[in-house]
Amino acid sequence: MTDANHRLMTRKADIGDTLNTAIPDQGELVEGEVLLALDRFSLTTNNITYAAYGDAIGYWKVFPTGRDDYGLMPVWGFADVAASRAEGVEVGARVFGYFPMADTLLVQAEKVSRGGFADASPWRKAVPDIYNRYVLCAADRHYDPALENSEAIFRPLFVTSYTAVDFLRDARFFGAKRIVVSSASSKTAYGAAWCLEQDDIEVVALTGARNRAFVESLGAYDAVHEYDALESLSADVPTLYLDLAGDPALRRRVHAHFGRHLTYDCLVGSTQSDGFTLDDPELVGPKPVFFFAATCLDQHRERGTLHAFYERFLADQKTFFARVIEPTSPWISIVEHQGLEAAAKVVRALADGVSDPAEGAVVRINR
Ligand SMILES: NC(=O)c1ccc[n+]([C@@H]2O[C@H](COP(=O)([O-])OP(=O)(O)OC[C@H]3O[C@@H](n4cnc5c(N)ncnc54)[C@H](OP(=O)(O)O)[C@@H]3O)[C@@H](O)[C@H]2O)c1
Repeated sequence: MTDANHRLMTRKADIGDTLNTAIPDQGELVEGEVLLALDRFSLTTNNITYAAYGDAIGYWKVFPTGRDDYGLMPVWGFADVAASRAEGVEVGARVFGYFPMADTLLVQAEKVSRGGFADASPWRKAVPDIYNRYVLCAADRHYDPALENSEAIFRPLFVTSYTAVDFLRDARFFGAKRIVVSSASSKTAYGAAWCLEQDDIEVVALTGARNRAFVESLGAYDAVHEYDALESLSADVPTLYLDLAGDPALRRRVHAHFGRHLTYDCLVGSTQSDGFTLDDPELVGPKPVFFFAATCLDQHRERGTLHAFYERFLADQKTFFARVIEPTSPWISIVEHQGLEAAAKVVRALADGVSDPAEGAVVRINR
């Protein structure tokens, strides 16, 4: 390993600012511990949102740094088991899961099964179980090494796109005939648009001028409008707002424009805000309702429908992973960046909102 053993910390006061430091020596592995060597991880605005809510939702707690001013921003990716003292977790096994931007991560394996294991470290209790599970690729029948980059980017996002559409469809779109999607250039947004392709509902994109051509190129939406043109949409069609931007000013405009024809406001993301302001006294119409994929999965677990859900979801997800990088008409091109220093530049661009949506960023760890 050339760059081992380092980690990229994020300055909490400026999420785009990172610090590459050595990981403190962790000594010999003790019973139950597993050392994971990160190989590739994705970076999208979703990671910036984890950091933005680092204190509010607890993401800073997941990978402690021992410092108040710097945290470890979580990312999703693939790693190899470099050393193991956990029965059932073999050296060399490939896993998918939640990591800090670091060469290695030491975890305390529990709930080891054929499909994977969880990290039992006490600080990981800060987030739902889904964030603490490491999936063994060899046991995942949908795993395809050729789709790893696509999977690293979209797996953490598509589950939200998919469950949000499931939720809205089950509710018959709250009576809406049209869905207006903000930050339509985001991967979570167009994942939802893909899921809605067969539904009898109009799906309208809202995006910035900079990203309009990209959103049009996807062909995933029935119409594409810039934010400025929101008021040009007819206001008499029952409309549902699928909000990825989370921008309070835009939300007020959406509510004011559609008025009583706004049937539901589904708040999923906050690409343009660092706070979820659900209580806005100036808001006309339905109060925004935050959507969280993990809650949906918990409901399937409680109802005993989780297995059936996953059967359907994993098959559809694989089709989507392949669609986005389909060679003749890819939706995005995936760019591999080498090493943590390169990751620092990608984080800066994402935090500043100047990334090109046509490129998906994957970071490879130099070895
Ligand atoms: N609730 C959940 O369970 C859940 C799960 C997954 C993701 N999410 C959220 O969904 C959102 C999208 O994540 P993603 O990873 O899919 O995003 P992404 O693909 O990286 O998309 C980024 C887009 O967001 C907008 N944007 C980003 N930074 C901006 C800035 N500084 N100023 C203005 N616009 C900015 C731009 O779109 P436009 O020009 O089109 O606005 C940009 O193209 C995130 O907030 C994420 O946390 C929520």
